Amino acid sequence: MREKNKHYAVIKSASYNAQAANSSSISLSRLFFFFFLYFFFFVLFNFRVTSPSVAGSPRKTITVGEIPQQHKQFGVLIGILTCPDKYDRRHFLRLVYGIQSSSPSADIDVKFVFCNLTKPEQRAFVALEILRFDDIIILNCTENMNNGKTYTYFSSLPRILPRRYDYVMKADDDVFLRLAPLALSLEPLPRLDLYYGFVIPCASMNPFVEYMSGMGFLLSWDLVEWIGISKIPQNDSYGPEDKLVGKWLKMGNKAKNRFSNKPAMYDYPGTNGRCSHELIPETVAVHRLKRWDQWLHVLEFFNVTEELKHSNLYHL
Ligand SMILES: *[C@@H]1O[C@H](CO)[C@@H](O)[C@H](O)[C@H]1NC(C)=O
Ligand SMILES: *[C@@H]1O[C@H](CO)[C@@H](O)[C@H](O)[C@H]1NC(C)=O
Ligand SMILES: *[C@@H]1O[C@H](CO)[C@@H](O)[C@H](O)[C@H]1NC(C)=O
Ligand SMILES: *[C@@H]1O[C@H](CO)[C@@H](O)[C@H](O)[C@H]1NC(C)=O
Repeated sequence: MREKNKHYAVIKSASYNAQAANSSSISLSRLFFFFFLYFFFFVLFNFRVTSPSVAGSPRKTITVGEIPQQHKQFGVLIGILTCPDKYDRRHFLRLVYGIQSSSPSADIDVKFVFCNLTKPEQRAFVALEILRFDDIIILNCTENMNNGKTYTYFSSLPRILPRRYDYVMKADDDVFLRLAPLALSLEPLPRLDLYYGFVIPCASMNPFVEYMSGMGFLLSWDLVEWIGISKIPQNDSYGPEDKLVGKWLKMGNKAKNRFSNKPAMYDYPGTNGRCSHELIPETVAVHRLKRWDQWLHVLEFFNVTEELKHSNLYHL
């Protein structure tokens, strides 16, 4: 397990390295390999970043707070709403987000969110995941479509999170998010009273017309706090979840700042009429990735694995 996760571990956590160094079972050559990999990711990151103000240290996702954040302008929590039994999907998404660098300006945490566990094996397997990755939030609710999970998600966060973020996103588990373009798109936007996403209806370019698609939308922290205390969402939490959020904000006269990120967010080509279009380089989110051939197409289009180095240890 440790072998398999070596790359991930090196990206994830400096303290993991320290821990490894303390272990007497780790040979010197292996230690050297760790430091080599660490150095490698530093170089890689700095190479990829195009911004002239590269003063910050690299920051990978799905991590909490082990690298100093003094250079970060804002923090984003991405909660991927999923179900406890989708172990394979979480494994895959951890890879997809774990290898992405975000940006020098944003500190992005990716977490998986679901409702109460219901089976004994879930308590064991999910506990393993938490021990290894610490990227799971279990809400006090019952798994069900449109049963108020999104309400429970936003309204619980201010109470249960150990820190505040500037923005909180809700994302589906069939969406591919590109963290660096997402962070870049947020940089110039207001930190308060912001509602960001892909506006429905599909063809609309007016972010005030209805609501942001459930594929992935983002609220500023003040709106998350408002959802936590307002009676408006509390009394109206059953139904299509993305539509409800738009309704609450309208009723509460909230979200004066809105940003619909089209064409950078969209449904996978051919899956959803006018919400779909071809893959484009400036993508922030591609939604409705239900099949492996669709994920493959996306990973190839965005050159996600191109950084892989040659090695005697493998051939692809
Ligand atoms: C969890 O939800 C149930 C049912 O909605 C409620 O009765 C209970 O008080 C909640 N527990 C906590 C810790 O919030
Ligand atoms: C979820 O689980 C907790 C702890 O086991 C329990 O207190 C709570 O009532 C459950 N909530 C729901 C909505 O079933
Ligand atoms: C709760 O919502 C229902 C249905 O939308 C509405 O009729 C009722 O007046 C609302 N109650 C409060 C206290 O807002
Ligand atoms: C992927 O790599 C190819 C070949 O280097 C390049 O032409 C293309 O623009 C890259 N695609 C993206 C989305 O960056």
